[in-house]
Amino acid sequence: MAQKNDLKKIVSHCKEYGFVFPSSEIYDGLSAVYDYGQMGIELKNNIKKYWWDSMTLLHENIVGVDAAIFMHPTVWKASGHVDAFNDPLIDNKDSKKRYRADTLIEDFLAKLDEKIDKEIKKASKRFGDKFDEKKFRETNPRVIEYQKQRDEVHERYKKAMNENDFTELRQIIIDCNIVCPVSGTCNWTEIRQFNLMFATEMGSTSEGTMKVYLRPETAQGIFVNFLNVQKSGRMKIPFGIAQIGKAFRNEIVARQFIFRMREFEQMEMQFFVTPGDEMKWFDYWKNLRMKWHLALGFSKENYRFHDHDKLAHYANAATDIEFNMPFGFKEVEGIHSRTDFDLRQHEKYSGKKIQYFDPELNQSYTPYVIETSIGLDRMFLSVISAAYCEETLEGGETRTVLKIPAELAPVKLAVLPLVRKDGLPEKAREIIKMLKFSFTCQYDEKDSIGRRYRRQDAIGTPYCVTVDHQTLEDNTVTIRERDTMQQERVLISDVENEISKKTDMKNLLKTLIE
Ligand code: GAP
Repeated sequence: MAQKNDLKKIVSHCKEYGFVFPSSEIYDGLSAVYDYGQMGIELKNNIKKYWWDSMTLLHENIVGVDAAIFMHPTVWKASGHVDAFNDPLIDNKDSKKRYRADTLIEDFLAKLDEKIDKEIKKASKRFGDKFDEKKFRETNPRVIEYQKQRDEVHERYKKAMNENDFTELRQIIIDCNIVCPVSGTCNWTEIRQFNLMFATEMGSTSEGTMKVYLRPETAQGIFVNFLNVQKSGRMKIPFGIAQIGKAFRNEIVARQFIFRMREFEQMEMQFFVTPGDEMKWFDYWKNLRMKWHLALGFSKENYRFHDHDKLAHYANAATDIEFNMPFGFKEVEGIHSRTDFDLRQHEKYSGKKIQYFDPELNQSYTPYVIETSIGLDRMFLSVISAAYCEETLEGGETRTVLKIPAELAPVKLAVLPLVRKDGLPEKAREIIKMLKFSFTCQYDEKDSIGRRYRRQDAIGTPYCVTVDHQTLEDNTVTIRERDTMQQERVLISDVENEISKKTDMKNLLKTLIE
């Protein structure tokens, strides 16, 4: 797992090895917009496939759609985005830097949590097996003080957010002495609301143009197609509709690499249920989505649920799955019980009846919705952050290796002739020719074999097949495993089977139904 201060290293590794580039870099980039390179797109596609298959293959009652990015502008009026998709914005008068007021307070709370954790870790080290965390929390004066402050600020923050009380929100920032990280001062403006949607115009003449928005979430494309899918697919409740696609938000504070972008990708699934059943399904999806993350094999300690203090205007329950990014625990996925809000709103604004006739209950109703919504780019960042390792090997040599789960790795295997002569390159090419229908393969003959292994480690290739002189005699090769660096000799005819056993997406999918 990458250390907390490793974001810079991860960013530069991603650029050096073709995972992520700043957008329009030759023009000095575009803030919070990124391009995925040759390795990045493979990893991204594999994450998408893992998600898509886990939804549509494993659930016979979940189907997919691909709705357009542009939608009728009334969609966003109905969904509440025109009126309520705002962030509270605050400026520091000295640095002229702009921040989200809620994020400033949340970061402050996270710092108090960190201080408490630090005290606990220190004490646990000191007392060893005898350490009683509960008792320590109840009796240690420093921890009690931090916890008291945290609880008080948290209570005020929750209330202010729920009541949209921006005067109080600003007062919390002042009372907690939260300073601008750039100027170091507490000289803050009032808080203003800022709508995050990008607008543009559709149509060619000035009379005929219509203001349209770049969708800020993919979910609405699913809601407006609810009846189309339900009727054409003869879907019976409960059923789900899944979608992967771009979303756009004019984020106030764009930082932390691909964590908060202005153009990003979401993987969303709306699960339509009978009213009254929503909490049962909320729990089901909450557990299954966590299982999906854990199946990747990164340490369990990297994940946690975070229940929302302030529910969105459409939700009656909501939780986030947070991942321990190099800059702390952050939201990767949201699971929301959205009630019947969206379908009812579209019914109201479109004037079309959007209901489901339940043959078992013999009645019509507006279904309730459980939504799972994961940011593909944030998922990408969590995989890279957890996978990035710098290791010192025996003999003092160092290597940087991306321990990406084999099923998601951009390149599954590299085929390397030991030397660039004696017919070894030709034999290696033959192997690639045979395997390229099944796996993304790379051929590399440049530099020493050690340096070639390092290059493959750096892009996370789980297996390297080396062709040597013995190969010409007995048709065997060595397969080197990335993480252990152990080598095993196998027949060329067994390579496909061996690699596919270890890299097949089915490995991950099967753990979800156990
Ligand atoms: N349909 C519900 C919805 O859009 P959200 O919590 O606003 O909910 C869902 O977004 C997910 O989309 C988040 O958990 C996050 O992973 C991702 N996401 C949101 N804004 C993002 C941004 N600016 N950059 C990258 N990912 C973002």
